[in-house]
Amino acid sequence: MRAITLNHYGNADVLTLSDIPQPIPGPQQILVQVKAFALNRADILQRLGKYPPPPGESDILGLEIAGVIVAMGMDVTGFGVGEHVFGLVGSGAYAEYCLIDQAMTMVMPENLSFTEAAAIPEAFLTAQEAIFSLGQLQKKESILIHAGASGVGTAAIQMAKQCQATIFTTTSTPEKMAKAKELGANTVINYKEQDFAATILALTENHGVNVIIDFIGASYFSQHLQLLQNDGRLSLVALMGGSKTDIDLRIVHTKRLQIKGLAMRSKPLTEKRKITKQFITKWLPLFAKGKLKPVIDSVFFFHEVKAAHQRMENNLNIGKIVVRVD
Ligand SMILES: NC(=O)c1ccc[n+]([C@@H]2O[C@H](COP(=O)([O-])OP(=O)(O)OC[C@H]3O[C@@H](n4cnc5c(N)ncnc54)[C@H](OP(=O)(O)O)[C@@H]3O)[C@@H](O)[C@H]2O)c1
Repeated sequence: MRAITLNHYGNADVLTLSDIPQPIPGPQQILVQVKAFALNRADILQRLGKYPPPPGESDILGLEIAGVIVAMGMDVTGFGVGEHVFGLVGSGAYAEYCLIDQAMTMVMPENLSFTEAAAIPEAFLTAQEAIFSLGQLQKKESILIHAGASGVGTAAIQMAKQCQATIFTTTSTPEKMAKAKELGANTVINYKEQDFAATILALTENHGVNVIIDFIGASYFSQHLQLLQNDGRLSLVALMGGSKTDIDLRIVHTKRLQIKGLAMRSKPLTEKRKITKQFITKWLPLFAKGKLKPVIDSVFFFHEVKAAHQRMENNLNIGKIVVRVD
């Protein structure tokens, strides 16, 4: 089969179209002919040699697929060859065929294309975990979601909206601000032009927010502790602004704050299966009804994957970048 491989780590030029053996499904695995996969920042980090795949996973890049079932392991039940499915994989999405655990496999709602389905798993499952499992967002609470036009950000705004939250978000261009607003954010702040923390404190009469979805880490940490209300929750999803900080912990103690980290990829398979099950039950029906939609920035062909990586590295995408495999 054709797959995107790396001979060595480096910039997008290291991505190479190669012929490699097709994988063989284990007892609980499904072999999917990949019709589309979506990009993630983790792919860029892995390409740079900064984010190795978890032990036992293929070293082919890629965390999410949509496609057609072509073969199944002997213990797989409830699926059939030819069925259209999508889901999260530990690695291996940048290929014509990819293995997926049966309990991580989701049947595509009929109203979604392969391109749309491929854009859902990583963004929406991460947002589900960050907002609800870690953040424990309750109906009508307030939430700050950074990078409101990112893949995870566009999913998070839509999901928070479903529980009538008051949503504050940050981003950096008028186009990205307009998309975040269209998706349901109540207040969109251009963090390059305005101090986001001061703006939110002013708008909330110094009350701040209940939950923060943080992709930035160290450079915002002190402001985040100021912004959280008593019993506030911070879901630390990424560290785009660094990992080292020097903080007086008194504020965490006195406001009873909860700081929780999220790393989806390295979670045990049993956990990821549970997260997928929750998503199938609670959120997937909303895609079939059109109440949730993946935001697709752009669609590239397989041979254009370098350009797709460069677009994400330059922070140009609004929503997900998808690659078609055909
Ligand atoms: N923990 C997990 O399990 C998990 C799962 C999925 C994703 N993630 C992480 O979550 C983050 C978002 O993922 P994604 O796929 O949604 O990303 P994405 O679509 O590539 O968007 C990332 C956006 O973040 C903003 N940004 C970049 N650097 C920034 C910085 N230093 N300060 C503030 N904003 C910055 C940029 O938008 P602006 O123009 O708005 O600045 C950029 O377009 C990534 O870091 C990703 O690795 C973590």
